[in-house]
Amino acid sequence: MEILQPKQGLLILSAFLFVFNLSIWTIHAQGSIPARFDGFVYENNLPDHADTILIEAFFDPVCPDSKDAWPDLKRVVEYYGPQLSLIVHPFALPYHDNAFLLSRALHIVNKLNASATYPLLELFFKHQTKFYNRHTYKMCRPSVVDYIVTFVTRIVGDDSLSAVESGFSDRSTDLATGISFKYGCSRGVMGTPYFFVNGFPLPNAGSALDYNGWRSIIDPLINVKGQSGDETPHFFL
Ligand SMILES: *[C@@H]1O[C@H](CO)[C@@H](O)[C@H](O)[C@H]1NC(C)=O
Repeated sequence: MEILQPKQGLLILSAFLFVFNLSIWTIHAQGSIPARFDGFVYENNLPDHADTILIEAFFDPVCPDSKDAWPDLKRVVEYYGPQLSLIVHPFALPYHDNAFLLSRALHIVNKLNASATYPLLELFFKHQTKFYNRHTYKMCRPSVVDYIVTFVTRIVGDDSLSAVESGFSDRSTDLATGISFKYGCSRGVMGTPYFFVNGFPLPNAGSALDYNGWRSIIDPLINVKGQSGDETPHFFL
């Protein structure tokens, strides 16, 4: 019979603790599955059957290419109407100092009034330079938050000021913004804009796609519609 020397015992104990830690970590990772699908559904138009084409766009509100991509994507989504759904996921790039705060503002506003989410994203795009690193470089974090809160009330109204303000101290909006980021990571998103059509990534990630580019991707998909059965799982519903 072998008797464990104290050193060996220690080794086994630390190996056990390591595995135990890993399992806690795994449980934690499972616990972070959100209760609802991440992202903001454009015009409340959820995919209502298996033939609806789904575009997912990962945008960083402070990314110039995301800003450039938006008008043509919006035009395309409006062109196809209910045949196509769009979900935008905020994806805060770590080298944009204010990206996480702006993404969080989108989550806060989405919670207060979902219809105001896209108007706010557009306002962020329009005034994007105000949120570039160099513009807030000398500001402390609370001043940047105050600035963003005031900015956001241009969309949701002054009477929502305190709601927006408390949104920034509400842990759930912090978590939601983190989940958007993690979701992007889980899909292999490495930059913005980044698009998926029916779950498949488009090539040329990180650059804007124009209206004709979109049409050449979506038109052939619309044309094969109707030839397929209705067997695809309705994974959103
Ligand atoms: C929600 O936001 C939309 C778009 O900005 C606005 O038209 C609407 O009045 C807002 N609703 C409420 C209840 O504030």
